[in-house]
Amino acid sequence: MNAHSKKISFHDFQPELESFREAVLDGLSRKPKQIPPKFFYDKTGSKLFEAILEQPEYYIPNVERALLQKHADEFAELIEPGAILIEPGSGSCEKVQLLLESVLPAAYVPMDISGDFLQQSAFDLGQQFPWLHIYAACIDFTHKMILPQGVPQGRRVVFIPGSSLGNFDPLGVQHFLAGIHRLVGKCGGLLVGVDRKKDHATLNAAYNDAAGITANFNLNLLSRINNELNGNFERDKFAHYAYYNDQPGRIEMHLISLEDQLVNIAGQDFCFTEGECIHTENSYKYSPDEFISLANAGGFRHKKIWSDNNHFFSIYFLEAY
Ligand code: AVI
Repeated sequence: MNAHSKKISFHDFQPELESFREAVLDGLSRKPKQIPPKFFYDKTGSKLFEAILEQPEYYIPNVERALLQKHADEFAELIEPGAILIEPGSGSCEKVQLLLESVLPAAYVPMDISGDFLQQSAFDLGQQFPWLHIYAACIDFTHKMILPQGVPQGRRVVFIPGSSLGNFDPLGVQHFLAGIHRLVGKCGGLLVGVDRKKDHATLNAAYNDAAGITANFNLNLLSRINNELNGNFERDKFAHYAYYNDQPGRIEMHLISLEDQLVNIAGQDFCFTEGECIHTENSYKYSPDEFISLANAGGFRHKKIWSDNNHFFSIYFLEAY
């Protein structure tokens, strides 16, 4: 429990280090090599992600923020006062701040895999909104979605900004939505921001910012493996590689080996040939029709959609049926 305020509690469902170790050893034994994107978010990775959000090429935060500001009262009406607002992947809890004064939830449940970061963000949020009851849950929400003890009764509404759903493949989105459906129950809500298909130049620039922050974010995974799993990756022998793959409709991020090399992790050797990639992230982009059919398959009907004038990004309010 957090000692700073009675209105903030911290609940640790922390996934064990073993799951990172298993995922890395298993993922690097596959062909092609792969590591799930949730492992980007150690303390440094979470900070680098916050820096990505500031990059001019990464349009998502600004477009979404403008929509959240413009339509906050409409969202509040659909969410309903006194709701329990749950945010998987809450990060710095920045976006929810645009909703709190309009929605006035009975409780806010931020969920994040990065425990230290979550604790700090929940504390900062509590300072800014002293009336808000916060139940912070350090959890791998891709595996389980449970609420901490003590969360009051009320209409449950999940908030997923930032197009985080794009990091699942479409079948994964359906499973994840089914999990949210179980959590919120029939007539529960989901307010979700989803990035849209658009010209490739805009998409490619967003994941290849000129300041090199996304590259650093991607390469930090190698440092995390070195630090936590006793690896000996040499970061400068790998490069960030991200591009829009039109056919599946997704940005792919990879770490590409710049030469033939052998890397040792936790006592196990892994061989890389020059040009070989570790696939680290997919970021799917959806047209409204595509996303609505996924939502329907996951047990949700759409009540309303909001989009910016350029059709870069959409926010959906969905209800479980
Ligand atoms: C968290 N997620 C929605 C981001 C995205 O756009 O897929 C992660 C990210 N990766 C590189 N830049 C941003």
